[in-house]
Amino acid sequence: MRFGHFDDAAREYVITNPRTPYPWINYLGNDDFFGLISHTAGGYAFCKDARFRRLTRYRYNNVPWDDGGRYFYIQDGDCVWSPGWKPVRTELDEYRCRHGMSYTIIRGVKNGIEAEALFFVPLGTWAEVHQLTLTNRSQVARAVRVFSLVEWCLWNAHDDLNNLQRNLSIGEVEIDGSAIYHKTEYRERRNHYAFYAVNAPLAGFDTDRDAFLGPYNGFDSPAAVMEGTPRNSEAHGWSPIASHCVALHLQPGEAKTLVFLLGYVENADDQKWDRPGVIHKANARALIERFATPASVAAAFQELRSFWDGLLSRYVLDSGDARLDRMVNVWNQYQCMVTFNLSRSASYFETGIGRGVGFRDSNQDVIGFVHQVPARARQRILELAATQLPDGSAYHQYQPLTKRGNSDIGGDFNDDPLWLIFSTAAYIKETGDFSILDEQVPFDNDERAARPHFEHLKRAFSHTVDNLGPHGLPLIGRADWNDCLNLNCFSTDPNESFQTTSNRAGRTAESVMIAGQFVLYGREFVELCRRSGREQEALEAQRHVDAMVASVLEHGWDGEWFLRAYDFFGNRVGSRENEEGSIFIESQGFCAMAGIGLGEGKVEQALDSVNAWLDSDVGLVLHQPAFTRYRLEYGEISSYPPGYKENAGVFCHNNPWIMIGETVLGRGDRAFEYYRKIAPAYLEDRSDVHRLEPYVYAQMVAGRDAARPGEAKNSWLTGTAAWNYYAITQFILGIRPGYDALEVNPCIPRTWNGFTVTRIFRGVTYHIEVRNPRHVSKGIRRVSLDGDPMSGNTIPMLDPGSEHRVMVELG
Ligand code: GLC
Ligand code: GLC
Repeated sequence: MRFGHFDDAAREYVITNPRTPYPWINYLGNDDFFGLISHTAGGYAFCKDARFRRLTRYRYNNVPWDDGGRYFYIQDGDCVWSPGWKPVRTELDEYRCRHGMSYTIIRGVKNGIEAEALFFVPLGTWAEVHQLTLTNRSQVARAVRVFSLVEWCLWNAHDDLNNLQRNLSIGEVEIDGSAIYHKTEYRERRNHYAFYAVNAPLAGFDTDRDAFLGPYNGFDSPAAVMEGTPRNSEAHGWSPIASHCVALHLQPGEAKTLVFLLGYVENADDQKWDRPGVIHKANARALIERFATPASVAAAFQELRSFWDGLLSRYVLDSGDARLDRMVNVWNQYQCMVTFNLSRSASYFETGIGRGVGFRDSNQDVIGFVHQVPARARQRILELAATQLPDGSAYHQYQPLTKRGNSDIGGDFNDDPLWLIFSTAAYIKETGDFSILDEQVPFDNDERAARPHFEHLKRAFSHTVDNLGPHGLPLIGRADWNDCLNLNCFSTDPNESFQTTSNRAGRTAESVMIAGQFVLYGREFVELCRRSGREQEALEAQRHVDAMVASVLEHGWDGEWFLRAYDFFGNRVGSRENEEGSIFIESQGFCAMAGIGLGEGKVEQALDSVNAWLDSDVGLVLHQPAFTRYRLEYGEISSYPPGYKENAGVFCHNNPWIMIGETVLGRGDRAFEYYRKIAPAYLEDRSDVHRLEPYVYAQMVAGRDAARPGEAKNSWLTGTAAWNYYAITQFILGIRPGYDALEVNPCIPRTWNGFTVTRIFRGVTYHIEVRNPRHVSKGIRRVSLDGDPMSGNTIPMLDPGSEHRVMVELG
């Protein structure tokens, strides 16, 4: 069952039935100011940090779900309705929500009145535009009242929900013409306030929630709206809101447009006040002035669209399969950008108060967006590196506002440092910019401890070498990529977090996944040493990589697949010996991508075992058999019910590792089949089962051991986005940036006749046509550049600004 459809030309997903199985959301904003907006206009806004600078309030885990947002009420005589259906839920004559690239348009029609609201954040602006157009589609003159509503958050989203004994007394607002200012705590320690304004005179307003709603009403039936009379309330403490009431008269066929602006302002300490008690509003007024007319809104909107045209022009596929094209050209790239911007902080599953910018997560995200905004990738990589600790290890996360690492959600995840090599290599391959290696970067944000970025990579590499276990394999630490495989945790106390507890200081538990990762990214490190003239370091690093390959072959192979780990007691994890958890996906993925034992058929055997044990209709599950009881020595993984999350769910993030592994073997049919199984555009018809947005990946789909396999959770902010983009574009379609040039080496289903890709790489535009007349998966028969035959499949660097035709024939 579907709830809408893709509009590929507009790059929009169009929801036509508001009763989706879960709120289907979109993101507004591209730099500092962000909004989450659901298809019924729920959600919230923040500037820079979803925890510390939350503008509007949102209640997670609320009933009904997704209550609170940017709401419009239209009071038309006795009939009150909302263009987004919610919160009023009056049945609409027409409803449509268009989620596009950083904007959302929600349109409702009721009794001949059409209301269309456009929501977006203009580029480089600390404000959301909510432009509402009302059109009288009836034959008679109409008089309606429009009420707006946002509820202010008292800035710190965590404290806002907890510290009521204080917070119910601190709320302060100012009303100035048609602008409502939220200035809680501005008098003392804050240099910022928010405002919600409209470009029309008011028939009234409200700023006190309880006065507006009435003490026992919800957002669906505010007393002020139901009675058609704003209270002109002024909030003192309790719960401040901003609600405008605008009266409109519409002749038949007439349309009127209101521009609402939800903004954020910071003032210097000596410019906080116009006069005692009255905040300095010049900056806010200038912003309001800038977007005061529909023409200025249209210009800003056009700018946003051109911005996205540019971002999405760097890799454009024409495969003949509309679902694949819309994933590769639009939605997967879009999700990668959102994931880069938000890391794991704010979604409808991440509350914006728990996790900030994750070290491993954000390094992996780089592979999904580096071709779009390489300069920002560089900056992000250096920010991450600046939180690295002097011994090469890493804080697991940092808070975006402070950019400082903290241990709130744990540390000592021994895979963390290696991802820094991965992201840096991806950046250099995309840009050719080796100068990043010389950039001075602090350790643990201590400027006095700044060293060249290369030194950070070296310590990341050495951190593995310095922390090997009894089998010469990397110690796992608190956990590796799989946060929930906690081999040193031994937790019996439900009040402690698996992520921050390790009850045994172990130097036995080892990870075969990190071993594969070390081989893969260790080789990248060797290459970086070589290319930056560090021959001696390259040789030494290569020896460690070779030793790791030997250790994996000797101690990391279980007979038909790669082991997953050794536990605290030195027992095998992910082995035929184990009744549950006999085979895990992560080590198969990493050892396959690294080609460990490729010559001896081990990669093939491991991936065949993956197919036999882990494949299902809804994707590859993480391990099998699922854990049916809690295992103290494994930790959180066995705490999830079978089929969910890390306990044998389809953890979509790791499926592309297997896809890429299959391309190492040249098995394009299988690689693409795994791709299709989890790519959201292919799941659209099953939206009732999948439940989440059919335009973005979810972190997890319930596995075959679950009660309802195929049900997704945790959409949007997941490494799944970047890894799938990387797998499809660089390994299946096979257009891959190298240090010197672009390489073309597709591995596709045999049935394909070919495809074309336009790729802008280091300023050169390549129109690449891949032909597959012999219906093979992999292997190159001939290549031509601008009609001239070429040897090899590496396309030389040409003049920036030039355009070239590349023809690749497989066979
Ligand atoms: C979540 C985390 C990621 C981790 C994965 C597996 O996606 O964000 O860091 O690797 O779960 O546990
Ligand atoms: C929980 C989740 C896991 C996630 C981790 C991040 O353990 O189950 O998926 O990676 O939290 O802190």
